[in-house]
Amino acid sequence: MKSVLKIVPLCLFLFFSIDSHSQDLITNTLNRKSFSLNGTWNYIVDPYETGYYNYRYEPYDQLKQKNNSAFYNNYHTDDKSELVEYDFDRSPTILVPGDWNSQDDRLLYYEGTIWYKRSFDYQQADHNNRLFIWFGAVNYKAEVYLNGTKLGSHTGGFTPFNFEVTGLVKTRDNYLVVKVDNKRVREGIPTLNTDWWNYGGITRDVKLIEEPATFIRDYFIGLKKGSAKTISGYLVADNVTGREKLTITIPELGLSEDVVVTDDSRVEFDIATEKLELWSPASPRLYTVMITSAYQTIKDQIGFRSISTEGPDILLNGKPIFLKGISIHEENPLRRGRAFGEADGLVLLNWAKELGCNYVRLAHYPHNEHIVRLADKMGMMVWEEIPVYWTVDFTNEKTLHNARNQLAEAITRDKNRASIIIWSVANETPPSDIRNRFLVNLADHARELDDTRLVSAALEKHFRDGVNIVDDEMGNHLDIVAFNQYTGWYGGSLEDAPDSKWDIKFNKPVVISEFGGGALQGLHGSIDERWTEEYQEYLYQQNLKMIERIPNIRGTSPWILADFRSPKRLLPGIQDGWNRKGLVSDNGIKKRAFYTLRSFYDKIDEKYE
Ligand code: GCU
Repeated sequence: MKSVLKIVPLCLFLFFSIDSHSQDLITNTLNRKSFSLNGTWNYIVDPYETGYYNYRYEPYDQLKQKNNSAFYNNYHTDDKSELVEYDFDRSPTILVPGDWNSQDDRLLYYEGTIWYKRSFDYQQADHNNRLFIWFGAVNYKAEVYLNGTKLGSHTGGFTPFNFEVTGLVKTRDNYLVVKVDNKRVREGIPTLNTDWWNYGGITRDVKLIEEPATFIRDYFIGLKKGSAKTISGYLVADNVTGREKLTITIPELGLSEDVVVTDDSRVEFDIATEKLELWSPASPRLYTVMITSAYQTIKDQIGFRSISTEGPDILLNGKPIFLKGISIHEENPLRRGRAFGEADGLVLLNWAKELGCNYVRLAHYPHNEHIVRLADKMGMMVWEEIPVYWTVDFTNEKTLHNARNQLAEAITRDKNRASIIIWSVANETPPSDIRNRFLVNLADHARELDDTRLVSAALEKHFRDGVNIVDDEMGNHLDIVAFNQYTGWYGGSLEDAPDSKWDIKFNKPVVISEFGGGALQGLHGSIDERWTEEYQEYLYQQNLKMIERIPNIRGTSPWILADFRSPKRLLPGIQDGWNRKGLVSDNGIKKRAFYTLRSFYDKIDEKYE
């Protein structure tokens, strides 16, 4: 089979590198040779940011004192007369990955700076290789130093980033210092106000990656848009001088195709195949894909499928589907704190499976890579979202650049995951012209980076003259019209819900991205007593009857799988700092409404088979 080679001009590659971090990102780190820096780190809580340097330095010795007192120098002294006011090695320790809020009660509400330090030795396999330090995520702003040298900074609490450290790593006694600041800021993404806990810290994996001087940094391999028998995509090699032959092999399909990449550009390919088993929730088929160069072989497990829309239908591999979903925050209530590992993902996705879901909305930010890869394996379709949440500063160019960068990092990391079918650019943002320009910019950026998936956002409806109306201008720019509605919780009558009237201004698939209500697990009473399980159960019964009748309805992801921590939920004896809209309690106990949703999903498929 002849592969069609197209060398994409460097300018196009540079176009994709507008957001610097996404341009440098090393993908598929789980399948690369790496040295884990997870484990016990020392930390210093520093609300006054003393760690940059000590303001009390002697006139004659300013430079030395200033340097020595900066925490990133991890300074020690045997000179008993010398003034040094910190010592990482005598400071407390904390686990990485993991937020600090759930590891030390004194830090439960802490918002500020904490300095982390990890010492390590490293025996480089080959001194011609290159070294990178990679972070799965740091919330919210990270400044990274190695052996006293500043590597750089990163803003955004839910996407990966890496820095090259070739030539900086010693065989012994390296010290990696990370300044983490989780203060909420007006211009941030998200901004000051969110209905989730502001977990700070090095919240995901950290690793040292060793790569050949010329290495395969990134690639996109999937089903060609509009075809069921062509695998296509691109490969990106780093530090190519002249020409580099790469080979893409998919042993189970008997495929092996050579391509040539030159001068740091990327190379595109199309590979015809006859016998591809498509990925779906019923059959989540993953293929081992290998990319080989003269210096290395990178392996990945990739599913091939298509996702598209046709009028009101969502088509998976050309067939209409209904998204039987649930929304999920990145918290494993059984363990407390930010979820980060495969074990957390299994707890959450197994509950979703028990609900009868074929789809999850990972709210309101990109979750860790482990749960996304689990979704690939378990056959769970995914809505992945960036935290453009509520009232971000739509007038601020820096805020837009931050949102674009987080979107690019999420797409760069996960574009080979068959489970992801939707990129979401926002949640419940108040409509305005400036907000529309901001979101259209993000929707266009998502499609530039990946035109194989659907783009959506959680909009809102409004109510006029007895009719629920969905006419948000953004509906014209999205593939799926999704919106949150809380009939029976934030207004509206549960009794009348099934007969409510809807006017949806778009002939597109409609997904109810949120509905729900709170219940304290174990609190029982009548269906009109708020906070009882019976109230929540009745709310689900009535909302589901209503949803079935909404025009073009093609899915829902009720709010939310499990109770989660929120500083906004303060009702003593009921909330106590927890949002209680979960179908599972913070002790992992299912509430009555869990079974209401499950029986709805058991029946809904009949309409779409
Ligand atoms: C909003 C928002 C959620 C929030 C939920 C609630 O729709 O999207 O983040 O937690 O409502 O009020 O519980």
